Amino acid sequence: MKSNTSWLDNAVFYEIYPQSFNDTNGDGIGDFNGIIEKLDYIKSLGCNAVWLNPCFESPFGDAGYDVSDYYSAAPRYGTNEDLKRLFEECHKRDMHILLDLVPGHTSVEHNWFKESMKSEKNTYSDRYIWTDSIWEEPQGMGCIRGISDRDGSCAVNFFSHQPALNYGFYKCDRPWQQPMDGEGPRATLEEMKNIMRFWLSMGCDGFRVDMAGSLVKHDEDGKGTIKLWQNVREFLDREFPEAVMVSEWGEPDKSLQGGFHMDFLLHFGPSHYNDLFRCEEPFFSSRGKGNVSEFVSKYEENYEKSEKKGLICIPSGNHDMDRLARSIKGDELKIAFAFLLSMPGAPFIYYGDEIGMRYVEGLASVEGGYGRTGSRSPMQWDNTVNAGFSSAPKEKLYIKQDESADRPTVQSQTADENSLWHEIQQLIRIRQAHKALQSNGEITFVYAEKNAYPLAYMRSAENEKILVIINPAGREVCFECEYAPKEKIYSFGGEINAAEGKISVPPCFSGFYII
Ligand code: GLC
Ligand code: CA
Repeated sequence: MKSNTSWLDNAVFYEIYPQSFNDTNGDGIGDFNGIIEKLDYIKSLGCNAVWLNPCFESPFGDAGYDVSDYYSAAPRYGTNEDLKRLFEECHKRDMHILLDLVPGHTSVEHNWFKESMKSEKNTYSDRYIWTDSIWEEPQGMGCIRGISDRDGSCAVNFFSHQPALNYGFYKCDRPWQQPMDGEGPRATLEEMKNIMRFWLSMGCDGFRVDMAGSLVKHDEDGKGTIKLWQNVREFLDREFPEAVMVSEWGEPDKSLQGGFHMDFLLHFGPSHYNDLFRCEEPFFSSRGKGNVSEFVSKYEENYEKSEKKGLICIPSGNHDMDRLARSIKGDELKIAFAFLLSMPGAPFIYYGDEIGMRYVEGLASVEGGYGRTGSRSPMQWDNTVNAGFSSAPKEKLYIKQDESADRPTVQSQTADENSLWHEIQQLIRIRQAHKALQSNGEITFVYAEKNAYPLAYMRSAENEKILVIINPAGREVCFECEYAPKEKIYSFGGEINAAEGKISVPPCFSGFYII
């Protein structure tokens, strides 16, 4: 069967953090019905796909990335039936939806873990990574110990209440380490496939996979983990050829080999993503003191390594990093979105970024959010109580909202035709009308010099070539360019001047030109 995932080519994703999006039963926490109610809104912005953060049963020690039952929706969001209805409502609108699969670890409250803590051997004894003695720690990993009858320490993946599931070791050098094809690791993987089967049969379109690159341990080059995902892809090709997989991995040369369609550029590791938006002098600040060149060379390196598949997704933000609007503002945001919406790979817009929602400073941590809590505050819809997010008393809201008098809302942004919201809507429309600008269009960088502005690149597909020029700096700049812009399809902040192989670019500008 030939898989049909071609919708990805012009997909523009909207990331929904379910607890903070829209509350319809007044308990202060967002829910599935609330998401359904807002699908038309998402569509009106131009997004045609959704990534939903984990929405499964959980004690919420890490906001749901600590699953205690993979087969049940968390009651606070609704039932499995409600979630199924959400899938259907997306499809009715020609939209697609990815769930968040957390295969690396569970909550300590998962039944598997409770069983695996028992001293007598049972089906779940090898589901997690345990050493043979309480006195031996799993090397290089944090651990849980002293709470089980079983004599051993259990490796953890993230917080200390998230025990690592056992997919085996690429190289084993201790008796308790099991190879990937050991019985325990194989059973873990089969169970993960069952979970995928369950939700795909119910109608979801695929998964964003949490920490996808770290499942097999002692696997420095990722060879074991790649093999594991190839095995998953074979299963999907057999049973769900249309299932889409997007990885949180950050190494597209590896993840694409593993059968993922796209990989995220991460805000940690070597991607230089933070140079763009989140550092002392971001490239997208109008101060114009940023440096885009290291980002571009790393991007080009990944692009070459992944055979120009170009499916590296650059998100506007997510639930793990500061809001975009914490370090750049106003027109800078519009110019940043011109970049985000004209790069290869599907763009991901984090809920609220389309209205310039701010990072809420000084919040106490909620559900293991810590510094991330300020980026997870409830969506601001309108000027009614709690910005239209919920009818609950203010103190009951999942996280405190931005209380500034001028906080942006969907209502104010959609009413103002010069708003960020309208700029993004226009940019999405233009992207979707031009193949060259979409996920699979090629990219070549035309100008990306050290400590210099602008950034210019060519996107192309079939017979179409589009030159993108981005100048966030508050000064006019000029660059040499062998291409002569023919027709303008988008501009913000003035007009360029092209003559004799040189293009001069106004301050705070972005523009797309057919060549
Ligand atoms: C991913 C998630 C993050 C979570 C972590 C552990 O990085 O995006 O929110 O805390 O994995 O599951
Ligand atoms: Ca609710």
